[in-house]
Amino acid sequence: MKDLFTPYELKDLKLKNRVVLPPMCQYSVTEKDGIATDWHYNHYVSRAVGGTGLIIIEMTDVEPDGRITDYDLGIWSDEHIPALARIVDACHAYGAKVGIQIAHAGRKAEDAAVPVSSSPIPFDDKSKTPRELTTAEVKDMVGKFQAGVRRAVKAGFDVIELHGAHGYLIHQFHSPLTNRRTDEYGQDLTLFGKEVIAAARQEMPEGMPLIMRISAQEYVEGGYGLKESLNIGAAYKEAGADIFHISAGGEGAIAAAGRPGTHAAYQVPLARAFKQELAVPVIAVGRLDEPALANAVIGNEEADLVAVGRGMLRNPYWTLEAGVQLGKAAGVPKQYTFGFPRTNN
Ligand SMILES: Cc1cc2nc3c(=O)[nH]c(=O)nc-3n(C[C@H](O)[C@H](O)[C@H](O)COP(=O)(O)O)c2cc1C
Repeated sequence: MKDLFTPYELKDLKLKNRVVLPPMCQYSVTEKDGIATDWHYNHYVSRAVGGTGLIIIEMTDVEPDGRITDYDLGIWSDEHIPALARIVDACHAYGAKVGIQIAHAGRKAEDAAVPVSSSPIPFDDKSKTPRELTTAEVKDMVGKFQAGVRRAVKAGFDVIELHGAHGYLIHQFHSPLTNRRTDEYGQDLTLFGKEVIAAARQEMPEGMPLIMRISAQEYVEGGYGLKESLNIGAAYKEAGADIFHISAGGEGAIAAAGRPGTHAAYQVPLARAFKQELAVPVIAVGRLDEPALANAVIGNEEADLVAVGRGMLRNPYWTLEAGVQLGKAAGVPKQYTFGFPRTNN
């Protein structure tokens, strides 16, 4: 019987427990240069001290105009590597493994003078109309993702996540709402994502898992549903994705009828469907911050790993607290043992 504190292993990745910090933008780059600051260091290292098994660094973009805002992290230059490596090394020292979400915001790049996308369709009526990437530029973009992954591997990350969710560039390509292209990238909506996966794999050691984050369901009228996203997932699995991180939405102004549930565990059925239908390991996310609930998702084999986002913004020691509530040894740092029952040490 597995629980939240059962170690997890896939290829060369070995996690001490099944708790994941999902990527969450901190908008805390101070010089608009994409370089991680002391805020990022303190934020991520606190969650490592707090017992998190896997920390995934926020959306980190492959070119300046691929950022949501100018305060986001970048990975378009070797100058980004040292500050990221410093965070990775410190998280490792406290027993966490570390991933990074490699991304491009596409039409959701708010500070770009002219954002780019698969097709020239704005996000909503307040957004800039993006410029459609030429076929040659799409191929270049695959190279930018590849260079970002190469830098991440150099920085010492244990795992790479590609951001294929929430209406960002990879999602823009695989959604029929935002990809109206007539070239090969429009004939096969998953071609861009598959090429990014293959390019990433070329830079990654054989034993390093690749996570694909995907919106398993769109909430806009006429958007794709689970049946279609399972097909997208199958194509990405075939291309080399090892783990799926199952989220939803983010593609545009939500139709009233399409509003997502806000109840606990609202995205777990989507994660479970990916796990069952595609026979892949999955990370479930979305209002899983009650330890007993997160534990049940693992115990019931609905997901392999559980991510806790806003719950960990509130409490960097979420995992240690979960250990108390579940009566499990969570590996409390020796400096903090007086604050916890003996059984959690
Ligand atoms: C402040 C904030 C920033 C976020 N930034 C990202 C991001 O960079 N990449 C991403 O894929 N999701 C991002 N998300 C979504 C979270 O990773 C997570 O999927 C979401 O918060 C639902 O999980 P929760 O209910 O545990 O918070 C963000 C969420 C929040 C609250």
